[in-house]
Amino acid sequence: MTVLAFGAAKGSPGVTTTVLALAARWPAHREPLVVEADPAGGDLVARLTSLDGERGGLRDTPSTVQLAASARSGLSDQTVLEHLQRLPGPGEVRALVAPPSPFAASTAVTALVAAGFGDRLRGLAGLDALVDVGRIDAASPALDLVRWLGSVVLVARPTLSDVLHTRELVNSLRAAGVRASLVLVGDRPYSPAEVIDTIDHAPLVGVLPNDPVGARALCGDAKSPKVLGRTRLVRTATDLAVRLAPGAPAAVPPAQAPAPPPAPPVAVPPPVPAPPPAWYEKAQVSS
Ligand SMILES: Nc1ncnc2c1ncn2[C@@H]1O[C@H](COP(=O)(O)OP(=O)(O)OP(=O)(O)O)[C@@H](O)[C@H]1O
Ligand SMILES: [Mg+2]
Repeated sequence: MTVLAFGAAKGSPGVTTTVLALAARWPAHREPLVVEADPAGGDLVARLTSLDGERGGLRDTPSTVQLAASARSGLSDQTVLEHLQRLPGPGEVRALVAPPSPFAASTAVTALVAAGFGDRLRGLAGLDALVDVGRIDAASPALDLVRWLGSVVLVARPTLSDVLHTRELVNSLRAAGVRASLVLVGDRPYSPAEVIDTIDHAPLVGVLPNDPVGARALCGDAKSPKVLGRTRLVRTATDLAVRLAPGAPAAVPPAQAPAPPPAPPVAVPPPVPAPPPAWYEKAQVSS
């Protein structure tokens, strides 16, 4: 359905964390899909793996690498769905993870983009893809996906260097026909008003708080979904998600509205099963 790309000019302003926060608070009538298309390598598996075997954590596979290998014989909606995992934590959010290796991750992104990845993501009925494309520069294989989309949400910190790099990126993207919008992380040392005065042509979609506790909670530190939901970062992401998500359905449908054609059925595979807990394996050995 909707495909939104999130990237940054330079540094690590919080693109991955922003995508996770948005996915955790995506409007209930939509289903988010987190896609790691950062050519510098994925972080989600390392951050959200299950160390104790008791919680269903992310695993190395399936990832963009296996999906790219399958794409050699054509990339179908079904193939994409078969390569998704579920993020641990609330919301049962689905994710396509990337390998940590920049070589493997960028090769996979290149192959996927060449195989029409954007089209496939758009074809996934009922899913809104939040695609983390990482740092955007002229050499990024994800740039073709961003060009194809024609828009990107840039995440930046309101520091002098971040603002200047982001401004240059906005101008370069504009020259390439890509509309950029902005999410700021924090409001110091420069205020959002000062930042938008400096960066022309990129509307500000929202400001997320600089909240290390919330950022850590999104990486699996939260003891419970309630704790995660109470963090400033995740609470603020709720408003941002509403602004970015496709419109909510009208509360009262118009009287004479024609029924929309039914969406083509896409079989949704069961989630990748979580590894068995440690006590289960022990019980198997001792029985
Ligand atoms: N809103 C926030 N408040 C406080 N800390 C944050 C926030 N967002 C991200 N961080 C922290 O900043 C660091 C970088 O975050 P993250 O990995 O999301 O950035 P990134 O832009 O995706 O980086 P990379 O380029 O390495 O992929 C992490 O330590 C994360 O916890
Ligand atoms: Mg990242």
